[in-house]
Amino acid sequence: MARSALLNVMVQSALKAGKSLSRDFGEVQNLQVSLKGPGDYVTQADRRSEKIVKEELLRARPTYGFLGEESEEIKGTDGAHRWIVDPLDGTTNFLHGIPMFAVSIGLERNGEMVAGVIYNPATDDLFTAEKGGGAFVNDRRLRVSARKKLSDSVIGCGVPHLGRGMHGRFLVQLRHVMGEVAGIRRFGAASLDLAYVAAGRLDGFWEEGLSAWDVAAGLILIREAGGFVSDLSGSADIFGSGTVAAGNEHIHKALIDVANRPVPKA
Ligand code: IPD
Ligand code: CA
Ligand code: CA
Ligand code: CA
Repeated sequence: MARSALLNVMVQSALKAGKSLSRDFGEVQNLQVSLKGPGDYVTQADRRSEKIVKEELLRARPTYGFLGEESEEIKGTDGAHRWIVDPLDGTTNFLHGIPMFAVSIGLERNGEMVAGVIYNPATDDLFTAEKGGGAFVNDRRLRVSARKKLSDSVIGCGVPHLGRGMHGRFLVQLRHVMGEVAGIRRFGAASLDLAYVAAGRLDGFWEEGLSAWDVAAGLILIREAGGFVSDLSGSADIFGSGTVAAGNEHIHKALIDVANRPVPKA
């Protein structure tokens, strides 16, 4: 598998930040932790990882813009490119010693995702994709699952945390989806949820209340693995709506239909 120079820059940044996360994961009880809001934690590990990724990416491509979860957005000067970075996706897992977290780096060109890297240092899974070049985990090519029926499918989701205002809507979606599928999983890191769909480990995934950095890299992974991804209404405005639905052609469509069913009468 030949990687472009740009993808190599992304991979090297993710690996370097991943080393820092691994060190901090081993000392998690000593980390400074603060709250951005109810149930919404940020740690020194998030900030250290972002600093590393930002320095690496901006050194390699100084004219590109940079949007990261933990710092002010930098507008690029080339007018076309933007890095979209989640330096630690799955902070709550990380804080609880659950090895399901990742560095996620996406590259947008003229509003379209063209490359993505998602790295879980705890499992050493390195997911990569470039437009037209396919999606991979380490050196293995990825393909979304081939299951056509929801009743055979295992579907991932996100669960809104304390302080999020959409618990009621989520419960309605969950009630509808769990009545149709073989199983539901909640792993707690949206980037990895999307990478797992790309890898065919999950047949589909939906979540609301997401930010661009949670999903940017995952979008290109899914598309390059032959999958479909949109917002929950089926439109392309995922960053704008903050919602996502993903899967193969059949499961993507079926999931949108089921998750949007109206509230059942009591
Ligand atoms: C969170 C994770 C989680 C999702 C939340 C995100 P963070 O990101 O991706 O799975 O359910 O909506 O905010 O804060 O751990 O980077
Ligand atoms: Ca966060
Ligand atoms: Ca995130
Ligand atoms: Ca994060």
